[in-house]
Amino acid sequence: MEKKKIKKIYQEKIKIFKHHNFLYFEKNKPIIPDGDFDKLKNEIIELEKSHKYLKDKDSPSNSVGFKPSKNFKKATHKVPMLSLANAFTQEDLVNFEKKILNYLDKDVGFKIEYSAEPKIDGISASLIYKNKEFVTGLSRGDGKEGEDITENLKTIKDIPHKIKSKNFPQEIDIRGEVFIQNSDFKKLANKFANPRNAASGSLRQKDPTETKKIPLKFIAYTFGYEKGLKALSQNDYLIKLKEWGFKTNPLNKTISKVENLMKNYFEIEKKRDQLDFDIDGIVYKVNDFSLQKRLGNVANAPRWAVAHKFSANSGISIIENIEIQVGRTGALTPVAKIKPINIGGVVVSNATLHNEEEITRKDIRIGDTVVVERAGDVIPRVISVDLKKRQKDSKKFEFPINCPSCGSKTIKDFNLTTKKEDAVRRCSNEGYNCEKVAIEKIKHFVSKDAFNIEGFGKKIVENFWNLKLIKLPQDIFNLDYSKIENLDGWGKQSVANLRYSINLKKKITFERFIFALGIRHIGLENAKLISKNLKSLKNFLSLSNKKNFNELLNIDGIGETQINSIKNFFLNNTNIKVLNKLEKILTVEDAKIQKTDGLLSNKTFMLTGKLEGISRAEAKSLIEENSGSIISNVSSKLDYLIIGKKPTKRKIDTAKELKIKIITQKEWFNMLKKTS
Ligand code: IVH
Repeated sequence: MEKKKIKKIYQEKIKIFKHHNFLYFEKNKPIIPDGDFDKLKNEIIELEKSHKYLKDKDSPSNSVGFKPSKNFKKATHKVPMLSLANAFTQEDLVNFEKKILNYLDKDVGFKIEYSAEPKIDGISASLIYKNKEFVTGLSRGDGKEGEDITENLKTIKDIPHKIKSKNFPQEIDIRGEVFIQNSDFKKLANKFANPRNAASGSLRQKDPTETKKIPLKFIAYTFGYEKGLKALSQNDYLIKLKEWGFKTNPLNKTISKVENLMKNYFEIEKKRDQLDFDIDGIVYKVNDFSLQKRLGNVANAPRWAVAHKFSANSGISIIENIEIQVGRTGALTPVAKIKPINIGGVVVSNATLHNEEEITRKDIRIGDTVVVERAGDVIPRVISVDLKKRQKDSKKFEFPINCPSCGSKTIKDFNLTTKKEDAVRRCSNEGYNCEKVAIEKIKHFVSKDAFNIEGFGKKIVENFWNLKLIKLPQDIFNLDYSKIENLDGWGKQSVANLRYSINLKKKITFERFIFALGIRHIGLENAKLISKNLKSLKNFLSLSNKKNFNELLNIDGIGETQINSIKNFFLNNTNIKVLNKLEKILTVEDAKIQKTDGLLSNKTFMLTGKLEGISRAEAKSLIEENSGSIISNVSSKLDYLIIGKKPTKRKIDTAKELKIKIITQKEWFNMLKKTS
């Protein structure tokens, strides 16, 4: 290759490197995987080595403080790092407690103790100790896999490298929050937007000496995998953490009853601005570890904990217009375009009005002066209208009866559970035929819990759609990259990155695949249930033959509403075409066979009547944990019918007819070698 060409390639690489270096270190917002960033650096250095005439002041070999750093290795969390469900009101807390009591089959009077801990707004980290020594430190990552940031974490004074106390577990993954104190943040002179960004930016520095320059703190609050931990409750664990030399939050408390949780919440909220660290709520955890264990998790959050977020900030503004957005399931959502206002540091110019009914009930009109609330990371919403300020000539808002995207007529479903008409109006053209619905479906398809295609965000979906590069999900895997390369804001490297992230996702689990299809009423939990029961994409595709629909009737947790929705999905020809195309392009992994050697292995169960001391949901988990499965119809496939108090006579009669074993709760517990 001639010199000129090599120089050009080199300059191109330097340009890209400068851009990503800036995004990484200055903005703390990298857009390419760290591996790619380091690869790029190495390519530049290699070029310089083999062509001595190549030089640039911005070369990675030149930049001040640059060290040929090692990549952050990825590592799997032995126990996933979950997130928390949010609560905002007292009512949310009452419901949280109610759900716990129901699951444990306890009466309202049963006293549950909680560990109430201020929720520090920082970055969570997992510290693995083996034989009293800090060996590996990971970031949260996506909860399943984190980055190895051991060296950076070692620079934090609050993190002990060696544990001296005697009663330390043989192995434990201590988890907590890395943060920066407000007073230290102020000294950083506008380098970061807020303390959380500062903590995150500093923790993910490639060079630990950079991390050391920023005084980070660590507070411990939970654990992941452990071997040899002797603690019976959260409170007990927090005491142990202190003995071992970790910092815990001085404002932690053990509290029972929702009213007392509320009292503590208001007290801490009052103190909030006097604290030297940012908190955005209180975390409540069921104190007793044995109850936590029984409660387990839902999707990606524990049933036994909740984050009670601090009350929203609100502000007053004027509605300039009301726009109707069409969502993935065809739902028409009215959004108020308001005169921009600053609420708690964030400029708000859109606020949701929820649905048609809400507009009618509150008689919200264009031109109205309204109170807008912003709570945590949820979408701002219009709370109330100041009628005194209403203009005389204002008119009632007329909700459209046709879909603003495709013009089809709109409908309101009849809700089978509430036996009422839905509050939400929907486009009747659900599917890929309505443009807005189709775009939202594709956004869902690439989203985090679905295909999770890195670098393929909402804006890119909209952009590619407008340019006619994608119309249906399968188009994502057949993109014309040469066209993209010529688009504004794209270059060789970024196109290569996109291509890489897309190809990476051609292999996907069955449950993610089902979720990605965005079938109404089939969220993460239901997708999991279907995946566990149908096992493979092949079985799922066979649902297009109506005869096979009975398979779904047997899945406990999947009801009429979900089944009707799946039926509708298979009635739509485009959906079938999409499925067939995707089947050809992708490798959809069969559902992992769960542990099969449990005590109830290969046996099917059905429950009827009320069990004692255990809820239906817990009974179901218990059966599944022991390799049994639950079905919800009495058929020849059933091995055992477990009867509780007041069982359904019809079920017992059918079971008798089919000569199915009928057992009591006690007999079932005996099978599990369980006493109560
Ligand atoms: S417990 C499964 N305790 O909040 C339990 N988390 O929204 C999850 N956080 O990722 C962790 N203070 O970064 C727990 N006292 C506390 C916490 C806390 C802050 C953060 C943590 C977590 C996030 C969940």
